[in-house]
Amino acid sequence: MSAQRPQPRPGVLAIKAYVPGKSDAPGAAKVFKLSSNETPLGASDKAIAAYQAAGTHLQDYPDGAATALREAIGEAFGLDPARIVCGAGSDDLLNLLARAYLADGDEAVHTTHGFLVYPIATLGTGAKPVVAAEKDYTADVDAILKAVTPKTKIVFLANPNNPTGTYVPFDEVRRLHRALPPHVLLVLDAAYAEYVQRNDYESGIELVATSENVVMIRTFSKIYGLAALRLGWLYGPAHVVDALNRIRGPFNVNTPAIVAGIEAIRDTAHVERARRHNAKWLPWLTEEIGKLGLKVTPSVANFVLIHFPTVPGKTAKEADAFLTRRGLVLRQVGAYHLPDALRMSVGSEEANRLVVASLAEFLGRKA
Ligand SMILES: Cc1ncc(COP(=O)(O)O)c(C=O)c1O
Repeated sequence: MSAQRPQPRPGVLAIKAYVPGKSDAPGAAKVFKLSSNETPLGASDKAIAAYQAAGTHLQDYPDGAATALREAIGEAFGLDPARIVCGAGSDDLLNLLARAYLADGDEAVHTTHGFLVYPIATLGTGAKPVVAAEKDYTADVDAILKAVTPKTKIVFLANPNNPTGTYVPFDEVRRLHRALPPHVLLVLDAAYAEYVQRNDYESGIELVATSENVVMIRTFSKIYGLAALRLGWLYGPAHVVDALNRIRGPFNVNTPAIVAGIEAIRDTAHVERARRHNAKWLPWLTEEIGKLGLKVTPSVANFVLIHFPTVPGKTAKEADAFLTRRGLVLRQVGAYHLPDALRMSVGSEEANRLVVASLAEFLGRKA
């Protein structure tokens, strides 16, 4: 490589850039985007109104501390706003954590089918991503612990995980935390927490409150329907919050996101509608797709991972092309080491029924 031009730091060119879910289906009369786990219900009307009102003040900088938003989050979840950091999506927070806690030669652990931003954020700092094997598409605490070395500084755990939709019961998360050395930061990414309906699940709030080395990350992109605005938040120990506040962009969250976020988190009726919609259609999709002879990984989130045969004519890639022609845009997950699967967001009733009918047609079966 030529030393005659600027070179990025080690690790940067090892990154495979994140490829977002596609949103177009050329030629289809109506497009259903089911590729990025967005809510089919859209954002709260109150959040949209607040976003629009912010349009008359675009000349003003946002409140760099996002104080009103942190207070609204604190009120909704019973948390001290001083222990919350907001970010431009949880992506922003994941990258800030990597920048604050990883250096050249360090290691950060994530699981085989873990969220792709973890290795990207890790490599960007010069540190090494270490992969812990999963069991049945589910994070395995023993494998994670085995992957921890003296160089480990962060363990990233998406719970539930994307793109598998599986989760780790919280007793297991506690066991993981107990066994980690105290200088290793456990990052609990609870992007889909609002959708989970399991008694043995927790997003991690209590563990954060009682530990010095655990943070929990949440997003407004999923159940709150604000993905376009880029808004996430982190709850952590005071010393981690202090570190992140030193390195984050001074205005990393914009005003339209702040005001819409406040309304979104207060509109509990809208969140409840989204939860109920998901609770109805997640099991329906799992069952109906299963009846077609395709394996669906049991999900607790707002999406399903559908496994396809490798027989020519029936593969995930061919199914994707077939569905896309009908305006049904799912997500290929080869980048997650799942080349024979597609991930589908739980969509509107119309979209869900269309996917099942189209898959039946693709497989030459009756729905
Ligand atoms: C597990 C997980 N974490 C974080 C994110 C990022 O969300 P955001 O839109 O807040 O950056 C996603 C989005 O797909 C996700 O699946």
